[in-house]
Amino acid sequence: MKISIILGTRPEIIKMSSIVRELEERSLDYFVLHTGQHYSYNLDKIFFEELELPLPKYNIDVGSGTHAEETGKMLIGIEKVLQKEDVNIVLVEGDTNTVLAGALASAKLFIKVGHVESGLRSFDRGMPEEINRVITDHISDFLFAPTNVAKENLLNEGIDDNKIIVTGNTIVDAVYQNLEIAKRKVDILNKLKMSPKKYLLATIHRQENVDVKEKLQNILDGFRFVCNEFDLPIIYPIHPRTMKRLKEFKLEIPKGVKLVEPIGFLEFLQLEAQAALVLTDSGGVQEETCILKIPCVTLRDNTERPETLEVGSNMLVGTNPEKIVDGVRMMLNKARNWDNPFGDGTSGKKILKFLEGAKL
Ligand code: UD1
Ligand code: UDP
Repeated sequence: MKISIILGTRPEIIKMSSIVRELEERSLDYFVLHTGQHYSYNLDKIFFEELELPLPKYNIDVGSGTHAEETGKMLIGIEKVLQKEDVNIVLVEGDTNTVLAGALASAKLFIKVGHVESGLRSFDRGMPEEINRVITDHISDFLFAPTNVAKENLLNEGIDDNKIIVTGNTIVDAVYQNLEIAKRKVDILNKLKMSPKKYLLATIHRQENVDVKEKLQNILDGFRFVCNEFDLPIIYPIHPRTMKRLKEFKLEIPKGVKLVEPIGFLEFLQLEAQAALVLTDSGGVQEETCILKIPCVTLRDNTERPETLEVGSNMLVGTNPEKIVDGVRMMLNKARNWDNPFGDGTSGKKILKFLEGAKL
């Protein structure tokens, strides 16, 4: 059995890391194909270094562009690699353009596709990620659903039960495997001169939030209200998409918000674990806060992670400044006694065990 892992962005590297470790441990034949969707050091290489992952065998260096440019270049580059490698199965993770291109190029070459983190649905086709998820799920052969909620979504779309394997989410593996390492190796609080529970952490990068001037302005106003009311600084490792828009729209960063460059996973985990609360529109961060028992306020109207709402770790507030501050007030007072619905940290093992048994 020869496996190709196709990845291209920060969250895919993090969420594929336990699978790559498992492939190494089992001495299975595999290679990593990187699309180059993310290429800046702190969105890409830093994670290979920190998580001690072998470098990709191929990087097709597509870079940034419109959705069609990114996806089109990826399809062409991925097809070339897969035509010369004798691959039995391709694994993709999540909902990015890389995932769509990886699954589509493989399916057209009649190579089996395994979709890790399958079945998530926001039911909002205004998100590019929702389109990527739906298409990828429907052309995949093995659907590794993190939870029963995700499995139900797939069944409701008529996908065959036999293709669905509930495994938990590999983000739990990544959090459990790296939290202790983070404690030993990094000290970001000291570096930023912050004390535990005396700051908030923010990440905002979704296209539908930051590419619209009024929405981004509202989010910054919300941050200003929050800093004023709670007298806590907001640490904000800013995604390059958001940075580009801030400059283009000439928006001002409120006093109390401390912008920093995107940081490595170890430092980010540490910041999350010690924060009083996290404000985000990231998918992975909604999960990590739930796992780490840190309250989360999500600046979106919907989420493909409803498990976090059900257990009470997360609240949706949209981008209205008053609603943002109301959400923070409510979530700061929240008892942190919820259960983690995303699995026990053995998802990578479960996926590999299944594939070995499947005899491809
Ligand atoms: C992509 C994913 C999103 C995911 C996010 C993870 C899609 C449709 N979107 O969004 O689901 O949550 O990655 O972070 O696939 N840029 C850099 N350096 C880089 C990469 C990007 O500066 O290494 C800048 C460029 O200006 C680029 C912009 O960020 O135009 C957006 O990058 P892109 O990969 O298109 O989308 P993301 O917003 O990163
Ligand atoms: N992350 C990181 N450094 C940062 C911000 C985020 O390592 O400065 C990690 C975070 O811990 C999570 C992942 O990046 O595992 C989330 O990625 P992102 O928010 O870009 O994408 P999404 O999950 O929304 O697709």
